[in-house]
Amino acid sequence: MFGRVAHRYDLANHLLSFNIDKHWRNRTVAEVRGVLRRPDARVLDLCCGTGDLLLALEADRGSSCFDSDFCHPMLTAANAKLRKSHCRSQTFESDALRLPVRDASLDLVTVAFGFRNLTNYNAGLVEMRRALRPGGLAAILEFSQPTNPAFAAFYGFYSRRILPIIGGAISGARDAYTYLPESVRKFPDAPELADRMRAAGFREVRFLRMTFGIVALHLGRV
Ligand SMILES: C[S@@+](CC[C@H](N)C(=O)[O-])C[C@H]1O[C@@H](n2cnc3c(N)ncnc32)[C@H](O)[C@@H]1O
Repeated sequence: MFGRVAHRYDLANHLLSFNIDKHWRNRTVAEVRGVLRRPDARVLDLCCGTGDLLLALEADRGSSCFDSDFCHPMLTAANAKLRKSHCRSQTFESDALRLPVRDASLDLVTVAFGFRNLTNYNAGLVEMRRALRPGGLAAILEFSQPTNPAFAAFYGFYSRRILPIIGGAISGARDAYTYLPESVRKFPDAPELADRMRAAGFREVRFLRMTFGIVALHLGRV
């Protein structure tokens, strides 16, 4: 599914979110800056897709990071963007549930709009924790449920009725944009995801909601 939408993924993202997705990623970068700007920090962006978060991370850090995804066409698109932007970060193809990295080898692991797609959220959290050094930081940017009932009704209509039509027209894969609101509806709400992070061994877990709670950024330390 991701392979089929890769060629139009960025355009669909920016149009369907009215370009607010850039703000969500920039806010994520701002929240992890303390670790990100450490010259010795090893940073991995999981489920990187076409690499938008990686580009923002490298631009802020001024040096390279690592990027991974299990979808080859997404990585091809990411690599083309990295080259065009003269980025030095490296990508590798990998399942986020089985990362080819040593235990306690990373300082920062980020994931934007990819965590929701994992087949086992708890296993994903355990794998992130395994890869992080003591003191390391995990940042999960993901869709969530709006808290205001009036806005939730509007957003529900938009995401179930409008979004699949526009997303389908742009990408040619309407099923992918029908899957999107369904997967968001099934995804744990922000307090529950925070509880799952604590259960997986993260400490200092906190989350911040953005844009009426459409998305939430969860942060936790090892
Ligand atoms: C909605 S895209 C998000 C891309 C990007 N992070 C962004 O902010 O736009 C989700 C990405 O997660 C990847 N993905 C889903 N499950 C994965 C897994 N188990 N391992 C690695 N990548 C995965 C997909 O291939 C896809 O590129």
